[in-house]
Amino acid sequence: VNGPPKDALGDVDVETFRREAHRLVDWIATYLAEPERYPVLSPLAPGDVRRLIPTTAPRSAEPLARILDDVPQAVLPGVTHWNHPGFFAYFASSASGPGILGEMLTAALSVNGMLWKTSPAATEMEVAVLDWVRQMMGLPEGFFGVIQDTASASTLVALAAAREAVPGLDARRQGLVGQARLRMYASAEAHSSIEKAGIVLGIGQDGCRKIPVDDTFRMDVAALRQAIDEDRAAGLTPFAVTASVGTTSTTSIDPVREVAQLCARERLWLHVDAAYGGSAALDPGMRHVLDGAEAADSLVVNPHKWMFVPLDLSVLFTRRPDVVRAAFSILPEYLRTAEETAAPNLMDYGVSLGRRFRALKLWMVLRAFGHEGMAARIREHIRLAREFEGWVRADERFEVMAPAPFSVVCFRGGFPALPAGEQDAANQRLMDAVNATGQVYLSHTRLRGRLALRMAIANLRTQERHVRRAWELLQREAGRLGA
Ligand SMILES: Cc1ncc(COP(=O)(O)O)c(C=O)c1O
Repeated sequence: VNGPPKDALGDVDVETFRREAHRLVDWIATYLAEPERYPVLSPLAPGDVRRLIPTTAPRSAEPLARILDDVPQAVLPGVTHWNHPGFFAYFASSASGPGILGEMLTAALSVNGMLWKTSPAATEMEVAVLDWVRQMMGLPEGFFGVIQDTASASTLVALAAAREAVPGLDARRQGLVGQARLRMYASAEAHSSIEKAGIVLGIGQDGCRKIPVDDTFRMDVAALRQAIDEDRAAGLTPFAVTASVGTTSTTSIDPVREVAQLCARERLWLHVDAAYGGSAALDPGMRHVLDGAEAADSLVVNPHKWMFVPLDLSVLFTRRPDVVRAAFSILPEYLRTAEETAAPNLMDYGVSLGRRFRALKLWMVLRAFGHEGMAARIREHIRLAREFEGWVRADERFEVMAPAPFSVVCFRGGFPALPAGEQDAANQRLMDAVNATGQVYLSHTRLRGRLALRMAIANLRTQERHVRRAWELLQREAGRLGA
């Protein structure tokens, strides 16, 4: 069989690339200029997109122009627009222009920063830019930062290091079978990624003990102390506590300082999950949210949540990089380099060998907005949440369901004609109705057994008018549903 002609091998020709790339950038610029052009929540049903995609791979080459022309009908209807200013679900992740350009350059360079030598800029920029972030957050010197893809990965790496630090345990070499039964702790409101790390690390879900929270959803430190005592008495080995700064449901802040004191006394690794909330500390007026975190062994913050960096980029800070390295470093001959003692090889600080040049987009965003610009945007989101909370409190048909220390408000409507058992379903209908308008997207949680709607404001493009519109829609639909 003859192969393709020689001149058809290699990449598409550069002039075609240039033309189509210009066209794509124009499209992106219009998309960013008109972020409300599409419904925020994709209206499609499961399988709708799949049906539009051929079931077998293309046999012969297609022109780039035709592939890109397919985007509006093949891709966009199935996109939920996280960049839409009416995106109030979960925690926002919005892509700033500089972040998009950084991502583009990362793809173009396509370096693998596994070793210092495989791209010195990737390693050294990562180290330098994460030290900017450390300073911007008010964390002390000595916290070493390393980029992971997500907070789930950062927490997994942190807790693997915590396991590595257990005296007399050699999990790295021997595994855990037949060894001490480990226990770690987090509040009942902590994110599921902590439990998932427990599954991966052989601690097991039963090894992740959930500590009750107080009436403001903060970890009860007395209950933590008691749990540790009970577990020690039962012959288990406590080794780590995760405290949250900004829990996923309500954004509550655990009493980190008290937890840190207990961890110091009990010689337990303290990991702080500040995936969303940590960004608030970029505003000097919000530094208090990290009170006590300077004593943490590790801390995770996600620039892809509230620092306007496109997915994905999570930062793991640790005061004990040597332990992280001890947990993960493996150096086969083919990865040895002459520089390995003079410069870090960031593959040693996580699960994956290959590492994208993610620091580039963070560098671009931090320079384009500056510390002041980042803080001003975060401050504005917090102000908008205050406003929204005020409106909810002023309307007797609604109730606020938790304190709102950041930019997320948990609330729900009351439907007097319905029995208590149907209030959750009515609130679900309220949420579905506002989401069906295509103008806003809110998600929900459950607080003390009751359904709560979450208004999470952290999108770069959200302005006061979008928050106002969300409130108008909520009031209108609540009225229609009999609130
Ligand atoms: C508090 C908290 N921790 C961790 C995570 C997990 O983040 P990621 O999606 O980056 O793994 C989340 C996700 O929303 C979160 O809210």
